[in-house]
Amino acid sequence: MEYDQDARPDRAIGIVGVSAPDNATRHDGAIVRIALAGLLAPRKTLPPSLFYDEEGCRLFYEITKLPEYYLTRTEFRLLETTAPEVAALLPVGTTLVEYGASDETKAGMLLRQTAASGTSVFGAYIPIDIAGPALAAMRDRMAEGNPGLTVLPVTADFLQPVVLPARTGEIAIMGFFPGSTIGNLEPEAAVAFLRRARATLGLDARFLLGFDICRDPGQLLPAYDDAAGITARFNRNLLVRLNRETGATFDLAGFAHRAIWNEAESRIEMHLVSLRAAAVTLGGQTIRFAPDETIHTENSYKYAPPRMRAMVEAAGWTRRDTWTDPDGLFAIWLLD
Ligand code: AVJ
Repeated sequence: MEYDQDARPDRAIGIVGVSAPDNATRHDGAIVRIALAGLLAPRKTLPPSLFYDEEGCRLFYEITKLPEYYLTRTEFRLLETTAPEVAALLPVGTTLVEYGASDETKAGMLLRQTAASGTSVFGAYIPIDIAGPALAAMRDRMAEGNPGLTVLPVTADFLQPVVLPARTGEIAIMGFFPGSTIGNLEPEAAVAFLRRARATLGLDARFLLGFDICRDPGQLLPAYDDAAGITARFNRNLLVRLNRETGATFDLAGFAHRAIWNEAESRIEMHLVSLRAAAVTLGGQTIRFAPDETIHTENSYKYAPPRMRAMVEAAGWTRRDTWTDPDGLFAIWLLD
């Protein structure tokens, strides 16, 4: 990377250039509430959904290209064989609902599948994502490439109940939750999410779930702490965002990226470590940090297949089919 994000002039102007009377109107109340709920807790946390502002989406995209981050490319290759097999099971006119759809590359592999008649298997695509600007850009791209496809983006946090847009003539529906994003959820929250998805999509729905099954710390840790420092930048961008969007006063030089493998919980944890004692103001509150105190910003659970199977069944789904790459790193499951 040729530039230092923290030193970019547009960012600096965004922070210091806001005059006092404007502050209240410019700050995002919802984000202030979410941030304070986590930062005032005895063990400080911030939800990973806050990563994905425009810069966060861009940095995540860079992560997916890193040599250490095996997840995206492994899943992508696996989808090359999985997508046609899944599509062959679906009736023409199926609606695809993607949870956490910051770009369409994976869905595109499904949407490209055609039936024997030559028509696309999918009639509609409903991408759900927290990042509104990314969704709008995607809809424009999709409109060009897929003239017959109805694209109905929904800007929402899929951890909340999601209302799907009205459709007509729908034949069947399939949820799609790739990328091991399910690993960001606590196990109970993952089951609750899967149960809610079943309620949203209907009892006749299918669901295609992609998750990381690698549990070798020697391979996992570098994927979350890459040599080029992109993951560190992704993690620290959370503080850049809070400074910009809430007027928080995080000293960006005072916090470092840390990734650890928590064996007992079978998860990678990302933290932002305060390098010294610090006091930060946010939303009228003062948040104090001891040296080496952390903000826990993300979990990426790595589920062994038997445990994931118990979770999907607890949520009311049945596992119909499974695909795994030759190295046993990643799994794609079809549920109904
Ligand atoms: C998009 C949630 C799957 O947990 O691997 C990448 C996000 N965090 N590097 C993951 C992420 C750090 C990613 N997911």
